[in-house]
Parts: sequence; structure tokens; C-alpha cells
Amino acid sequence: MKGIILAGGVGTRLDPLTRVTNKHLLPVYDKPMIYYPIMTLVEAGITDIMIVSGKGHAGHFLELLRSGGDFGARFSYGVQERPGGIAEGLGLCEGFADRQPVVVVLGDNILEDSIRPAVEQFRRQARGAKIFLKAVSNPGSFGVAEIKGSHIVDIQEKPKRPKTNLAVIGVYLYDRQVWEVVKALRPSNRGELEITDVNNFYVQQGTMTYEVLAGWWGDGGESFDSLLEAGNLVAQRWRRSPPPATVQDREAEPLST
Ligand code: DAU
Repeated sequence: MKGIILAGGVGTRLDPLTRVTNKHLLPVYDKPMIYYPIMTLVEAGITDIMIVSGKGHAGHFLELLRSGGDFGARFSYGVQERPGGIAEGLGLCEGFADRQPVVVVLGDNILEDSIRPAVEQFRRQARGAKIFLKAVSNPGSFGVAEIKGSHIVDIQEKPKRPKTNLAVIGVYLYDRQVWEVVKALRPSNRGELEITDVNNFYVQQGTMTYEVLAGWWGDGGESFDSLLEAGNLVAQRWRRSPPPATVQDREAEPLST
């Protein structure tokens, strides 16, 4: 299975922080934001990863992340010429995916939970997709899942009157049908190819499964408060149990004498 991190877009909600740099390069506690989705994938055993960024700062991503060796991973890079939507960014990764299933993580999503068990379960799911839900107090800011029995029956993107408090977080597992789905998409009212339309294809096909996250989840790009909250949550968690050291961290450690 291959990994995809989508880090395009312009980050207007965090202006002026994003005026001269990219949202995903901003600090979340002690690391740039994009380190967290990378760590989520690597911890789940996904090490062949394509990172899609916007055209303005693509060089900065390459300089920061290089080959991926610091993370025990191998990185490929793509450039989304304009912010045409999450699903448009995903569409750039078809060749990289090479007909394998993919795990897609939005570059501003930070998770406490491991997705490893879900990824392993998805490897056994013959076809379809899997998403992750989290109960939140402000569902209208996200994709919101409507559930009947044990099935998702619809997902609405930032609804004015959310039917549940279950946000669809920015981690998506797809089979290889996804490339045909993306090609058939039409832009939404806001002119973007919507990831929610991709997810609703699988919902209507009856092949969408889901997991509910137990731990905290942060969308670091939603607002200044969500960025601050993500930093605080990471700091608290690292104090409880430090993250695994990257090769880079280990090189920075002083030599014991
Ligand atoms: O965080 C979860 C939410 O992410 C979901 O609940 C929503 O269904 C989904 O639409 C998305 O909503 P956002 O409003 O948070 O999307 P945003 O425009 O902030 O983009 C999220 C990430 O996707 C961003 O960090 C970079 C990437 N992206 C976005 C756009 C618009 C791209 O790579 N290319 C793009 O063109």
C-alpha cells in the first residue's frame, strides 16, 4: 500500500502566518506541521509516500524533507499548480499509486491514535474505502457523516445544519477505483474537486467502512485556535510518551563520552 500526503492549498484562514510560508511548514509544538501526517503513515508501516504541495513552496518541502530517509521512508514529490481541491491534488498521484490501494492523509491533520490496525484491516477488505470519524463540537466546519445502523448513508461537506456531530477526518483509505472516481468528478459550488464527493461514491456503492477515533484529532489548518490546540495536544502527549526518534533526531543527540 502506498501513502499520499496532500499539502497544497493556500491556507488563507491562517493569514498572515501563511503569507510568506506554507501552512504545512508552520510549527506545531516542536515540529513542522507536515511531520505529523508523515509519522502517522510511517507508524502504520506505509513508507513509500508521495507529497503533493502547492507551486509556491515546493522547494521548501524538498529542502526540509529530502529523500525521506530521516523518517525511514521514501518520498516522491508532486506539485499542484492551483488549489483546485483535495480530490484534484489526489488525482496527481495516480501514476505513483501504480494500481495499489492508497492511504491519503491531509497535511494539516494530526492524530493521537495509530491508524495501523485500520490499515491492516483495510488490506483484508476486498474493495472499497475506509474513513475515520471523530465526534466534535463544531461539525459544520468539516465533512459530516450521517449514519443509519452501522452504515454511513451520506456525507455532507460543511453543512449549515449538521445531522450528526461526527466529523470525517482527513485520512482516507481507497482501493484502485478511486482514480476513475476522481476523473468523473465535477467542481463543486466553490470551484473545487471535493474529497467528500469521492467518499460519497463509495457510500453509494455500499463499500465504505469506517472507524471512530478514540484519541484526539486536530485539524491544524482550520483556525488559529485549532493550530494552537494542536500544538498543546502534541506537547501534552509527548510529555506522557515521547515520539520515536527520527534518524535526524538521533544524529542531533550528543555523543556520550
Ligand atoms: O480536516 C478534515 C476536513 O478536511 C474534512 O472534514 C473535510 O471534509 C475536507 O473537505 C477538508 O476540509 P478543510 O476545509 O479542512 O480543507 P482545506 O481546504 O483546509 O484542505 C485540507 C488539506 O488538503 C490542506 O492541508 C491541503 C490539502 N489541499 C487542499 C486543497 C483545497 C490540497 O492539497 N489541495 C487543495 O487544492
